[in-house]
Amino acid sequence: MGKLLIINGSPRAPKSNSKKYGDILRKYWGEGIDVYSVISQKHEEVCKELGKYGDIVFVFPLYVDSLPAVLTNFMKQLEKIAARKENDLLKNLKVHILINCGFLEPEQNDTAIEIFQYFCAKNHLNYGMTLKIASGEAILTTPFAFLVKRKIKRFVKDIRAGKSRTLDISMPLTKKVFLGASTKYWLRYGEKFHTTEKQMRTMKIEDE
Ligand SMILES: Cc1cc2nc3c(=O)[nH]c(=O)nc-3n(C[C@H](O)[C@H](O)[C@H](O)COP(=O)(O)O)c2cc1C
Repeated sequence: MGKLLIINGSPRAPKSNSKKYGDILRKYWGEGIDVYSVISQKHEEVCKELGKYGDIVFVFPLYVDSLPAVLTNFMKQLEKIAARKENDLLKNLKVHILINCGFLEPEQNDTAIEIFQYFCAKNHLNYGMTLKIASGEAILTTPFAFLVKRKIKRFVKDIRAGKSRTLDISMPLTKKVFLGASTKYWLRYGEKFHTTEKQMRTMKIEDE
């Protein structure tokens, strides 16, 4: 088995939840990992080196039911490499995704996953495992953190075993409880930045 490359596709990479999930993944994977954040904008250099990896895990957030634009920029570069028939940099590579979203339901991630899988099929990339994490903004700061850690451990084992399947995890809460807790959380968060509930709920974008 070759090395693993983790690609962090979050625009807020160093402070992102994707980084936290990537760090857990690294712990379970052990030796032989490189990490690349797409915000570093070194896509060409990274893509040229892809031949040294056996697996890539794209770790990224759900943005408006889709992929963050910073990640799609990297995918465009990858597409260029894939289009070069003469090179076989990508031949032995397997691609996996670990996606996280803010809402409670793991299936919120499904459209983004389909987009990503279509990209892989179109570019003849070998696709492997999917892990969809819901309540991804919150779960690591709750007593349910062990659930997501356990799932990432399973995800790593399945990658190593060459499996192709979908795993998911969320907080075991009802929608009502989740909504109550998350509303409280965001109101408190807003207060820290002197932002009221009314300001947070408005659709208007103002200068002041
Ligand atoms: C611009 C933006 C759009 C988002 N769109 C969705 C969405 O459509 N559905 C959802 O469940 N969460 C959505 N979220 C929540 C993020 O997926 C969630 O906060 C995630 O944990 C962020 O991960 P990151 O820290 O790795 O960037 C959105 C967040 C932002 C900032």
